[in-house]
Amino acid sequence: MRLIAVVLVVPLCGLSLLAQASDPEKGKKVFTQDAQPACAVCHTLADAGSTGEIGPNLDELKPSREAVVNAVTGGVGIMPAFEESLSAEQIEAVAAYVATVTGGDK
Ligand code: HEC
Repeated sequence: MRLIAVVLVVPLCGLSLLAQASDPEKGKKVFTQDAQPACAVCHTLADAGSTGEIGPNLDELKPSREAVVNAVTGGVGIMPAFEESLSAEQIEAVAAYVATVTGGDK
């Protein structure tokens, strides 16, 4: 009985870890499409092919994952908060994506 539990639980944990190790395509999609208004409208980010100039150029800013989570969750200045419109998972995904492609998470 115990063996069966181990056999079942271990692969499930592996799967959820994989899911958490954020999928860059998902983060990119939040950046260019899912967020309303999309981050791409206001921010330049080479990897996403965006040239928005309302907010800082993220390739130059190289924000850490944590800085992106904070900015997106609560908003900064005229940047809107996305706490209500994006799920925590989407915010994590976009933060991991931006920090990774800009080299902000070193
Ligand atoms: C309506 C335009 C607009 C949209 C949409 C927008 N931003 Fe911003 N963003 C700004 C502006 C403007 C600032 C600078 C705010 C300030 O410093 O006063 C900023 C700042 C930031 C910063 C820097 C925060 C810091 O610590 O200085 C990050 C990171 C960021 N935005 C990421 C994002 C992401 C990711 C999204 C999409 C989920 C997004 N932004 C959507 C306009 C926008």
